[in-house]
Amino acid sequence: MNLAYFYRQLYQWWEHNKRELPWRETEDGYRIWLSEIILQQTRVQQGMEYYHRFIERWPTVADLAKAGEQEVLREWQGLGYYSRARNLHKAARQIVESAPRQGTKAEGQSLFPRTFEEIRALPGVGDYTAGAIASFAYNMPYPAIDGNVYRVVARLKDCAEPFDSSSGKKLFHRYIDEMLDRTNPRLFNSAIMEFGALYCTPSLTDSETGACVCERCVIKEVCKGYAHHTAGLLPVRKPRPTLRDRYLNYRIYLSGEKGELHTLIHQRKEKDIWQHLWEFVLEESEQGVLPVKGQTRFVDINHVLSHQRLHTRFSVLYVEQLPSIEGYRAVPLASLDEYGMSRLTLKALDQLRATAGLRPL
Ligand code: ADE
Repeated sequence: MNLAYFYRQLYQWWEHNKRELPWRETEDGYRIWLSEIILQQTRVQQGMEYYHRFIERWPTVADLAKAGEQEVLREWQGLGYYSRARNLHKAARQIVESAPRQGTKAEGQSLFPRTFEEIRALPGVGDYTAGAIASFAYNMPYPAIDGNVYRVVARLKDCAEPFDSSSGKKLFHRYIDEMLDRTNPRLFNSAIMEFGALYCTPSLTDSETGACVCERCVIKEVCKGYAHHTAGLLPVRKPRPTLRDRYLNYRIYLSGEKGELHTLIHQRKEKDIWQHLWEFVLEESEQGVLPVKGQTRFVDINHVLSHQRLHTRFSVLYVEQLPSIEGYRAVPLASLDEYGMSRLTLKALDQLRATAGLRPL
C-alpha cells in the first residue's frame, strides 16, 4: 500500500469530518484514561455528560484517589458494569501511591503514568485502552485497535480471517503494525478510529440516500475490499455456537440485625457452569424467570456464556430466619468477598449495591 497517499487522504478526511470532543482537546493522560473507560461503557453523547461531571468533581487523578469508592460508584450510576468504576478508583489510588514523592515532580505535572507498560498494568486497562492513552495523550507509537479499526483494516486488506480469533488477532496486529504512522501516532489512531466510526460503518450505506458510501470514499484507491467488492462482507467474526436459553432465579435471603446480616450460599459442585464457585439460593425454571412478590427488590441480568444465554433474576428477601435448605450455609454478608463467585453474581451484587443502597450488601 502507498502509505504516504493513504495518510494524506485519511488525514484530510479527518480534518474535515472529526468530531470536536472534550478529550481531544487535552493531552492529560488522566482525562484521556477517564474518557476511554467511560466510552467502553456508553456512546459518545452520553459519555460526554459523565466525563464532564467526573472532571468537574475530580479534576486530577489525585482528587479521584481521595474520593470514597461509594462516591465514585454513585457518579458512575447509570453506566452499569460497576467493576469498571471500582477499577477506576483502585487505579487512581495505585497511581498516587506509587508516584514519586512530592518535590521530584515539576509543579502541576500530572501523576498519571507515562510509559505504556505502567499504563497497561493499571486495573481495567487492556491493550486497546493502553494504546489509546499512550498515543492520544503522549503521541507514543502504539496501536489502538478497537472494533472500528478492525473493520477498516479488514476492508483495506480484504481480510476474511475472524478478527476475534487468536490467529486473526495476530494477523490484524501485523497489518496495523505495518500501517501505523510512527511519526504521527496520535493523529493516525484518532483518524482511523473516527473514519471507522463515522464513514466506514458496518452498513456502509449513506443515511440520507441509502447508497453505498464506497464510491465516494477517499481511500478506495488503496482498499482491496473495494477493488474485490468484498467490503460489505467484512469484517468476519468467529462463528457463534447456537446458544441454549436458561432461566436462573436467585434469592438473596437476608436475616439479622443491620451490620450483622447473614445470607445463604452454596458451592456449585456439578459439572455444569461455574463449577466450584459459590452462589445464592438458586431455582432454575423452564419458560422464563419467575415473578417476584410484592415490594421485593430485584435485578434482572442477561448474561451470555460461550454456549448458553442466561436470563437471571436476583431477588432480595428479608426474612426473620434464614430457611434451612440442604447444601446451603449461612454466612455473614460482610464475608462474601471470601467466596469465589461468578462474574454474573458479582455484577448483580454491584448493581444492587449501587442502585438500591443495599448496604452493606
Ligand atoms: N471511542 C473510544 N475512544 C474514543 C475516542 N477517543 N473518541 C471517540 N470515540 C471513542
